[in-house]
Amino acid sequence: MKADVLLGLQWGDEGKGKVVDVLTPDYDLVTRFQGGPNAGHTLEFEGKKFVLRSIPSGIFQGNKVNIIGNGVVIDPALFKAEIDALETSGHPLTERLKISKKAHLILPTHRLLDACYESAKGIDKIGTTGKGIGPAYTDKVSRNGLRVGDILHNFEEKYKEAVSKHVTILKQHNFSYELAELEKDFFEGIEKIKTFELIDSEHFVNDALRKGRKVLAEGAQGTMLDIDFGSYPFVTSSNTICAGACTGLGIAPGRIGEVYGIFKAYCTRVGSGPFPTELFDETGDAMRKLGFEFGSVTGRPRRCGWIDLVALKYAVMINGVTKLIMMKSDVMDTFQTIKACVSYKINGEETEQFPFDIAEGAEPIYVELAGWQTDMTQMQSEDEFPEEFNTYLNFLEEELEVPIKIVSVGPDRAQTIIRYQD
Ligand code: GDP
Ligand code: IMO
Ligand code: MG
Repeated sequence: MKADVLLGLQWGDEGKGKVVDVLTPDYDLVTRFQGGPNAGHTLEFEGKKFVLRSIPSGIFQGNKVNIIGNGVVIDPALFKAEIDALETSGHPLTERLKISKKAHLILPTHRLLDACYESAKGIDKIGTTGKGIGPAYTDKVSRNGLRVGDILHNFEEKYKEAVSKHVTILKQHNFSYELAELEKDFFEGIEKIKTFELIDSEHFVNDALRKGRKVLAEGAQGTMLDIDFGSYPFVTSSNTICAGACTGLGIAPGRIGEVYGIFKAYCTRVGSGPFPTELFDETGDAMRKLGFEFGSVTGRPRRCGWIDLVALKYAVMINGVTKLIMMKSDVMDTFQTIKACVSYKINGEETEQFPFDIAEGAEPIYVELAGWQTDMTQMQSEDEFPEEFNTYLNFLEEELEVPIKIVSVGPDRAQTIIRYQD
């Protein structure tokens, strides 16, 4: 059996949580492979709404096993808060959530360092989620990190040593901070983590595949935030792309099956960094209002703009996407016309190739399509799609050369149209 991967093709918040929940009945295991509580994955069903940060989105459909893989960074305090809230709402997870011993820990001082580095960058700041993601991954790569497995032996000693290095840096920056309260929550979180089964997830996942179990790997963030291929330096600190599922779970490349690429019918970005198709006019405002484009973790208004096919083609290529999923098409239900960026003009030259740095002035070249001006939110099958919507779908499929398997017409689990079964 091969593992399927589902990941974002834009700048995150494409609707990954919703679709993982919809697809979960087809799988035995749902896993996260990178990122951490910078993610905010929203799920809505039966009038309820949940936002998951570190926990995979496969926890609400049946008794599936959910795994936090080695590529994830965990903040114990936020993890505990998430688990407690889920327990209170009737979703205890101790039996069916397992955590890799190799996942790295976000320490309280990583959060402080995140804030410290952002303020040192001034107007060039990344606009991070402030969750300590960059500093935690930096420690992992520089071989100073602490892993979940470390909490089982002499943890306080290792913790003190790591924190003392961070404190030195904070002092060098004259960064004022209060650590005691953060540490209290952190150590309560560590105790909470100990109540879960801590596993060698690479063995667990590969054994499951060998036994014919179906595995879905849930990406966080999006391809344009990937540390290598995103709009560097305005990116996150992990590999958000398909290859990240290999390193973040211990699955061999040949064991990857379908790659589901998710995108919105338009485009959003939160935080700083270039965004060629961004709109600063009433159309952008309409997208924000109709799509309720406010960060699910930080509440920040998301920047909105037209769909960018140069960036999407790049994302499809890097990830080897085999199936596309289009989200939030309902947000454009009232639009008279819809634009799609098909190439960039850079230094007077037109190109369809994603450049080294889009910050160096990539002017979007658009084609215009007719809007469908029909409320699609109650539609149940593609037979009901208006003609203009079908034209938009066909246009995207031709441009991206990958079939669009699923169309989402609203935030609820039920507002999902699967166009064909394989
Ligand atoms: P994720 O990080 O990729 O899981 O996405 P987020 O949860 O951060 O953001 C997606 C937002 O859009 C959430 O508020 C979802 O409830 C909502 N959403 C998902 N799919 C649709 C859709 O098809 N239509 C509308 N209107 N909202 C959607
Ligand atoms: P999900 O999984 C959207 C953005 C931040 C910032 C940059 C770096 O919900 O799609 P970080 O805290 O990771 O160091 O921030 O990445 N960012 C996201 N934007 N959705 C996310 O996750 C994001 N996670 C990080 O806004 O620009
Ligand atoms: Mg999100």
